[in-house]
Amino acid sequence: MSVYGAARKVTTNTLQEMKRAGEKITMLTAYDYSLAKLVDKAGVDVILVGDSASNVMAGQVTTVPMTLDHMIYHAQCVQRAVDRALLVVDMPFGTYQGNSRQALESAIRIMKESEGHAVKLEGGAEIVESIQRILTAGIPVMGHLGLTPQSIYKFGTYSVRAKDEEEAEKLIADAKILEEAGCFAIVLEKIPKELAQRVTQALSIPTIGIGAGPDVDGQVLVLHDLLGITMDFSPRFLRRYLNLAESIETAIKQYCDDVRSNDFPNAEESYSS
Ligand code: KIV
Repeated sequence: MSVYGAARKVTTNTLQEMKRAGEKITMLTAYDYSLAKLVDKAGVDVILVGDSASNVMAGQVTTVPMTLDHMIYHAQCVQRAVDRALLVVDMPFGTYQGNSRQALESAIRIMKESEGHAVKLEGGAEIVESIQRILTAGIPVMGHLGLTPQSIYKFGTYSVRAKDEEEAEKLIADAKILEEAGCFAIVLEKIPKELAQRVTQALSIPTIGIGAGPDVDGQVLVLHDLLGITMDFSPRFLRRYLNLAESIETAIKQYCDDVRSNDFPNAEESYSS
């Protein structure tokens, strides 16, 4: 039986076994109970309560305004729905970069208050002390390299990262530092596919790509992008599996027409005394 088929509950070990067995890992975001339940039931291996909730749920331009309380609220909603998937929660901007003690306290709050299974942090060598301190408390850590949206004001654009050799070498070095520190997996966001392949081959822990091509150990997308709810975001790497925005608008317009024409509610949809 495949590792995927045998895993009644996905753990960080399951992901490592999947890499060893050459089985691809699936990961999607979720921010609320109802959609998280569907994602888990569909058999996704890792559910990420991403700080992309800032854009998708709250309509903010960046992920920077997200707070620990916001992330814990979303993670609590998702946690109630999850039965099989490994639940990873993003540590928001400003809750781990200050010092390792602050990072540990933030991670402990996430784990205690949301009952998530792991945390994810953006960055390489510059945050390794925070990662090590979190790991000493027994909290699994997922890394995130390449395009790191919390640093948008440093980079200025959301364009592809590490196209030149110097940045590519730094990314490979960072990936090795994260692996040595004890991260159980690393997200690689928006980097050339050749670089993602190099990193994946150089590491024994799984890499999960988003806009990083096919030669990684797994893929992650933002759920609302995959479902076609967020239609104003169309990067090259995105495959939309539905056009839910259109279906939802059609359904809501039909509802309005039915109310206005007195078609809804009809006799079967009404109670009698
Ligand atoms: O916040 C998020 O949704 C993420 C994914 C894009 C990996 O970090």
